[in-house]
Amino acid sequence: MPAPIGMSPLHRLPGLSRLLSLDLWVKRDDLLPMPGGGNKIRKMHAIMAGVRADGYTALVSTGGVQSNHARAVALTAAAEGLRCTLVLHGVPGEPVAGRGNALLARLAGANVTVVAAQDVAATLEHVMDNLRAAGERPVLIPGGGHCVAGTTAYVKAFDESFRQMSAHSWCPEQIILASGTGATQAGLAVGVQRHGLAARVTGISVARRNPRGGQAVRDAITDYLEYHGYAPSHIDVDFRDGWIGEGYERATGVVLDAIALAASADGLVLDPTYTGKAFTALLDMARSGELPPGSRVLFWHTGGLLNLMASNYFTESII
Ligand SMILES: Cc1ncc(COP(=O)(O)O)c(C=O)c1O
Repeated sequence: MPAPIGMSPLHRLPGLSRLLSLDLWVKRDDLLPMPGGGNKIRKMHAIMAGVRADGYTALVSTGGVQSNHARAVALTAAAEGLRCTLVLHGVPGEPVAGRGNALLARLAGANVTVVAAQDVAATLEHVMDNLRAAGERPVLIPGGGHCVAGTTAYVKAFDESFRQMSAHSWCPEQIILASGTGATQAGLAVGVQRHGLAARVTGISVARRNPRGGQAVRDAITDYLEYHGYAPSHIDVDFRDGWIGEGYERATGVVLDAIALAASADGLVLDPTYTGKAFTALLDMARSGELPPGSRVLFWHTGGLLNLMASNYFTESII
């Protein structure tokens, strides 16, 4: 049984606050207790409660080759003595990268198959059939941990941060995070509303364009409310697709500069796929005056260290 999830730290960023003339804090979900950390750990923790209760023996899931979620599934399966099969989308036949998330998934003993994106659904079905035929009880965990349990994990994460913020007598006016499938943003938006705060939750897209990206967040909120039997409620969704750059897993020079700035100013390590883009948006919002001087801003760090380590960015020494 893996360690309980505990709390991730919440603290001020003094160097960046000074440089940006903001009152900038960070929620350190990059430090959640699993190698590589990140938001997928909270989601997986919530998903596993159901998996254990239902007596499944094998975890099956999907994602990109450097998927943080897939690594969380593989390490969780190993920790709980379950079988694990991952159907990753990439270039079929290409050796699975021996770096970052893919390396940890392999070391954890997951059975990893790489297929073209359009073949993922059929391959997953085939994998599930084969596991059942072998006498296993497999469960298919949605890619990205995108399900009601994942959203619920982030409603609870906001409760956790609210307790920490109250202890510091501090409350954000603006929350900024990297947003992909949208469940993390959805959970935080619900949490903010539930606590009656006026804080705006802004998700910075790492891949999806609007209207699809914003709609995915709204759908996750609706699914959460329906599943838990809550009345429908209007919750503002601010999903911005202006910092995707050249696409998923591709970082432009401004993102790399933002990563270097955060690391040098406060020892905060971001990544080129997710958090670097969200932080670039925060910098632009500060520079444009959208975040006026003195604004109380919470940057919700969702992880990504292994994406940084697996990337080829920063291979030239900048020292
Ligand atoms: C490090 C990191 N940050 C943010 C996200 C986006 O989370 P969500 O899919 O809940 O929007 C992901 C998802 O892959 C991630 O791995």
